[in-house]
Amino acid sequence: MSFPSWPAPLDRRRWLHSVAAATLTTRVAKASPRPALTIRFSHVVAEETPKGLAVQRFQALVEQRSDGRIEVLHYPGAQLYGDQDEMQALQLGAVEMLAPSLSKFGRIGFPEFELFDLPFLFNDAREVRRITEGAIGRRLLKGLSRHGLVGLGFFDNGFKQMSANRPLLAPADFKGLRMRVQASRVIAAQMRALGAQPVNLGFSETRRALANGVVDGTENPVSNFWTQGMHEVQSDLTLTQHGYLGYAVIVNQRFWASLAEGDRALLAQAMHEATDYGNQISEAQNSKALAALRVAGTTRIHVPTGAQRAQLRRAVESVHLALERRIGTAWMQAIRGAL
Ligand code: SIN
Repeated sequence: MSFPSWPAPLDRRRWLHSVAAATLTTRVAKASPRPALTIRFSHVVAEETPKGLAVQRFQALVEQRSDGRIEVLHYPGAQLYGDQDEMQALQLGAVEMLAPSLSKFGRIGFPEFELFDLPFLFNDAREVRRITEGAIGRRLLKGLSRHGLVGLGFFDNGFKQMSANRPLLAPADFKGLRMRVQASRVIAAQMRALGAQPVNLGFSETRRALANGVVDGTENPVSNFWTQGMHEVQSDLTLTQHGYLGYAVIVNQRFWASLAEGDRALLAQAMHEATDYGNQISEAQNSKALAALRVAGTTRIHVPTGAQRAQLRRAVESVHLALERRIGTAWMQAIRGAL
C-alpha cells in the first residue's frame, strides 16, 4: 500500500505505547478462552460521541455474535494515535480499524472525499444519507482500494457550527481570525472565503491551541465541541450548520483479506448495524451536547437569522467552483445530479 503524502513517520515511542496499551487495555478479564482475533479500533474523539457510541455498538455485536472469539479493543480520544499517525498505524498493522473524518482522506490521495466538506452542500441528514447510502457512497468506498484500504461504511456525526471568542454571524466577523481546520483544502478555502486564516491542526491539539490563543476559533459539531471541553475556552458558539462532518470506517486490505470469509461477513454485518445505530443517535447526541452546553453557561449560543445564514452562504459559494478540479468534475456532476 502506498499513500502519496504521509505525515511524520510513526515514532518508536508511540509504537511501543500502542503495543503496551493493547496489552494493558481496560478490559475486564472474561472467563471465556483467549480471543482468536483482536481488532484494535482507534479514533480521535470521545467515547460519548456518535462515533464513539457506534464503535461500542460494533464491539458489543462482534463479541456477542462471535461468542468472544473476536474481541474489539476500542481506543477513543487519540489515546493510541492521532490524526498525524493513525493512517500509518493502520498500514503497519498497529491497529486494524479506524474511522477518520471524511475531510482527512484528501491528503492521503482521495481528494474526492472532500466533496463532503463543501459548505452548505447538504440541507439535512436525509440528503447526506442519499449520498452515503447511494451509488456515490458505494463508489467512494470502492475507490479506497487504490491505496490498499477497504471501506466498510459511513458514520455520521452531524452538522458543524462555528466557534470563537465572538459571535460569527457575518463574513465580517471572521476577518483576521485564525481558524483551526482539518487537513482539507475545501475547508481551508471556505475559511479564506470568509476572510479568516485557516490553520491545520490535529484534532487532539485543538483545545489546547484554542486555550493558548494559537488559534482563535474552529468549527465542529456540538458533540465534539462539548466532549473536548472547548466550551471552557471559547466564549461564543454560532449555530451556522454550514457543513457536514462524517466518517468512513476503514480497514487495511491485507488484514481484511487474511480473515476467514465467515468472520468478514460477521464483521461487515455488525458494522452495518452499528452504522444504522450510530446514524440514528447522532442527531440526539448533538442535541444533548447543546443542552449540556446551555446548562454549563460558559458559552453564548447564537442562532443566525435566515438572512445572516444566506449572507454566509453567498460568501463561500465560490468554493464549490474553485475546488471542482481538486474534487473532480465527474464527482461534482454526480453530486449535483444526486442532490
Ligand atoms: C473527528 O470527529 O473525528 C475529528 C474532527 C476534527 O478533526 O475536527
